[in-house]
Amino acid sequence: MDDVAVALAVHVLGIVVWIGGLSLVTTVLLPVVRRRPPAEGWALFEAVERRFAWQARAAVVVVGASGFYLAWRLELWRQLSEPQFWWIDAMAVLWLAFVALLFVAEPLGAEAWLRRREQAAPGSGFARFHLLHWVLLGLGLVTVLCGVLGSAGGL
Ligand code: HEM
Repeated sequence: MDDVAVALAVHVLGIVVWIGGLSLVTTVLLPVVRRRPPAEGWALFEAVERRFAWQARAAVVVVGASGFYLAWRLELWRQLSEPQFWWIDAMAVLWLAFVALLFVAEPLGAEAWLRRREQAAPGSGFARFHLLHWVLLGLGLVTVLCGVLGSAGGL
């Protein structure tokens, strides 16, 4: 089997775990958390989100490694500045945003910020957090769509 096909399969597998999990958190977990009494909602959020955060981090590493490998093997580096390859630039920008959120913002205290905000004004922290998840999910789905169309020569 050729290495480009394997890298593409690994790339897509990582995206399924990552964006699929993000979709579940956004459309199922956070709406349930926001309807529960604050202490109960927080406990549920911690139990689920903490487990998923590790899966998301692992998936982001796999997607980035396979993506850079593909770009190198397909010799796309020099073409990245060309307008017709904007969809690969979009993938890299989205990936960088998630690296910043999962590997920098979270360890630096994003959860502590959420906890403080929820204690000061219950509901307001989760409302912002939920909105951020909707924006990220929207960007993720558009990037997947453009990635498949671009890779198939449809953009
Ligand atoms: C460092 C970040 C990334 C790099 C360097 C990268 C690079 C690539 C490359 C080179 C390809 C193959 C293009 C081709 O076949 O001509 C590809 C395919 C693809 N990528 Fe990425 N990617 C990255 C992140 C992402 C992210 C964050 C997403 C979506 C959330 C994504 C979604 C896709 C999809 C859907 C495909 C097409 C799969 C198919 O052939 O159907 N990539 N990527």
